[in-house]
Amino acid sequence: MQSDFAIEIGTSNTRIFTVGKGIAVNEPSAAVFDNAEEEIKEVGTKAYEMLGRVSGRYSVICPIREGVIADYGIACSMVGKFIKKVIRSSIVMPKTVLCVPSEITSVEKSALLNLLQTFGANRIGMIKQPVAAAMGAGIDISSPHGAFVVNIGGGMADMAVISLGGTALTGTVRSAGNAMDEEIIKYIRHTYNMHIGKHTAENAKINAGSVIPGTVSGTYTIKGKCMITGMPIKVDIDAEELVEPLQKTAGLIAAKIKDMLEHTPPELIGDIHTDGIILTGGAACLRGIDKFIGEAVELKVRVADEPELCAIRGSGAAIAYMNNRKAKINPLSRAGN
Ligand SMILES: Nc1ncnc2c1ncn2[C@@H]1O[C@H](COP(=O)(O)OP(=O)(O)OP(=O)(O)O)[C@@H](O)[C@H]1O
Ligand SMILES: [Mg+2]
Repeated sequence: MQSDFAIEIGTSNTRIFTVGKGIAVNEPSAAVFDNAEEEIKEVGTKAYEMLGRVSGRYSVICPIREGVIADYGIACSMVGKFIKKVIRSSIVMPKTVLCVPSEITSVEKSALLNLLQTFGANRIGMIKQPVAAAMGAGIDISSPHGAFVVNIGGGMADMAVISLGGTALTGTVRSAGNAMDEEIIKYIRHTYNMHIGKHTAENAKINAGSVIPGTVSGTYTIKGKCMITGMPIKVDIDAEELVEPLQKTAGLIAAKIKDMLEHTPPELIGDIHTDGIILTGGAACLRGIDKFIGEAVELKVRVADEPELCAIRGSGAAIAYMNNRKAKINPLSRAGN
């Protein structure tokens, strides 16, 4: 018996939810490519660990950028390997829910659909990422009550005002978790003449990062390469130093939310005023991001439980709508729409 599944092919992580198992795959969207044999050697966690650590024969490729496919061939092989981990081949292909960025273009959508069809998927329903995230955060999306959900991932902050299962308004900022890492890399380069890699920057963000001064105290050791001597060095930075670089990306996201609020219909804005804004996505775990956005837009802001899993949980829950085409409210759109 084949189980239906939902998939989120994110900039940072690919997640698969199967009916029965729940979240069965949750791994970085990364692949190690063997340039000599022209084939993929590793995908997921093992591949991501090698990022910045290989050269010559092997390359680590992150084939998804800002939620869409940047390298089709690699994305196809990577997703294929993830799907094979959980879906046994069968004559009857399972129904599939695909979580997509809310402002995906038709070309980008076709690329994702083609990729899934390569693995035999022919009954695909698509759900917009903020709608899936809202469902995963426990919001009743079928209600006429408006909800403002922001999913801050690796490549984008994908946001929507949701009502009656659909999006009244959507918005995207193509700066999120990865942009925060880049800001840390830039700051360390300018301040300490030191070159650091993506992993080091991401670890600093997760372990010592914050967007509100006074949230994290103490020093944090960063190791890298001196840009003058080329030799390995380490510096002890004050965790507080990361606040300003991280605020740059958070500021862009807050500005977009403000802009969306200005364009939200009056009835819905009343609901949002009462309920506040919900943050989901991995980068919503950044310390102080709820307070920072709350102060910027002058509304209540809360982070959902396990924010990084909201979109895939909601996509999984949306599988039920694949079997209920008559539902008055349906967050799915069919492939081809
Ligand atoms: N504790 C944490 N503090 C700050 N950032 C975090 C934390 N945990 C994860 N992140 C960041 O969350 C991002 C990944 O989030 P997520 O898995 O939701 O992205 P994605 O769905 O792959 O990307 P996208 O939706 O943009 O395509 C990464 O940038 C990661 O560094
Ligand atoms: Mg995502």
